[in-house]
Amino acid sequence: MEKRRIYMDYAATTPVKKEVADAIMPFYYELFGNASSVHAFGRDVKGVIDTARDNVAKLINADSSEVYFTGGGSEADNWAIKGVAFANKDKGNHIITSKIEHHAVLHTCEYLEKHHGFEITYLNVDEDGLISLEELKSAIKDKTILISIMFANNEIGTIQPIKEIAQIAKEKGVLFHTDGVQAIGNIPVDVKELGVDLMAMAAHKIYGPKGVGALYIRKGIKLHSLVHGGAQEKKRRAGTENIAGIVGFGKAAELATIHLEEHEEKLTKLRDKLIKGVLEKIPYSRLNGSLEHRLPGNANFCFEFIEGESLLLSLDMVGIAGSSGSACTSGSLDPSHVLMAIGLTHEIAHGSLRLSLGDMNTEEDIDYVLEQLPKIVDRLRSMSPLYEKVAKGGN
Ligand SMILES: Cc1ncc(COP(=O)(O)O)c(C=O)c1O
Repeated sequence: MEKRRIYMDYAATTPVKKEVADAIMPFYYELFGNASSVHAFGRDVKGVIDTARDNVAKLINADSSEVYFTGGGSEADNWAIKGVAFANKDKGNHIITSKIEHHAVLHTCEYLEKHHGFEITYLNVDEDGLISLEELKSAIKDKTILISIMFANNEIGTIQPIKEIAQIAKEKGVLFHTDGVQAIGNIPVDVKELGVDLMAMAAHKIYGPKGVGALYIRKGIKLHSLVHGGAQEKKRRAGTENIAGIVGFGKAAELATIHLEEHEEKLTKLRDKLIKGVLEKIPYSRLNGSLEHRLPGNANFCFEFIEGESLLLSLDMVGIAGSSGSACTSGSLDPSHVLMAIGLTHEIAHGSLRLSLGDMNTEEDIDYVLEQLPKIVDRLRSMSPLYEKVAKGGN
């Protein structure tokens, strides 16, 4: 019998949908032209970039002219932050972000702080991972030029009050960027209604290809370019367009728009079953992140007396693919900065497990996890002298 394999790491990346792959393929052979060429081969591909742009714009209710393709989510975050910072240096040098941002934001801010004289405020979050709007308000100074707060967290799934943050930024005349990489395609995102100025996106989190993303730039916003060169993307982001990637992103965005409601509903149901089952069946376990303001596919737990890496390996042996947090920091021995920021101790944060759900997951998958995970946790704990002591002591 073939070994059962269950993928529960959709927050790291998603498989490319069949319709997306089918849409991409012709652009690797028949339709290989450069969109900037004047001949027929170039003309053949020019229009498809516009169609893709329309589809990405529709997913977030933007105008097509406000969507700029990039080489992924990290580039979009870098562009938004460095672009606004460098374009507004004469106005001020202060940027506000949070302690739980993705490293594409945190390391960009640290770079500006270290090498370009910017001052960065890293907002705290509460035990659910939410920033405080009061703390945000009082952090704003005359020289604040940008607020960058992520839409939804990649590790614990917490969704921030984006509309309220945008409102505060607007009142104070500060630009607001949000990292929307984990949000788009999973929850409704309407940039007009929310009032955000810039938003980073990535195709590979919504069943599109890797290495392509986009930055939403509200009309009229000035920011420096990150990539200089040719006149692509209205002279704002140089480089021959990744046509196959852009077509794939467009198709993935089109499908995400069509299926958003059912996708959200399905994942929420599976997630809630998983969370309930894990907390009921496994003692000394906790859910990380907010129950109420949470991405539909995210479940993140900590199991006391367990080491996250051994848990992941044991799960992998029974065919379950999860993660200890973010894919980008796995391999590092430091506990997750997100789990530290919500107030967990090093020991507890080390026993974390993120199971992020997506299209291929079923109720049977959840049942399988609920059958395997308690056994694995039990076995790993039986090797822990500390657990032995606590279990015997009954506290
Ligand atoms: C919240 C968030 N921002 C940014 C990124 C970076 O996106 P990319 O991998 O497309 O560069 C990721 C990817 O893990 C993410 O989860």
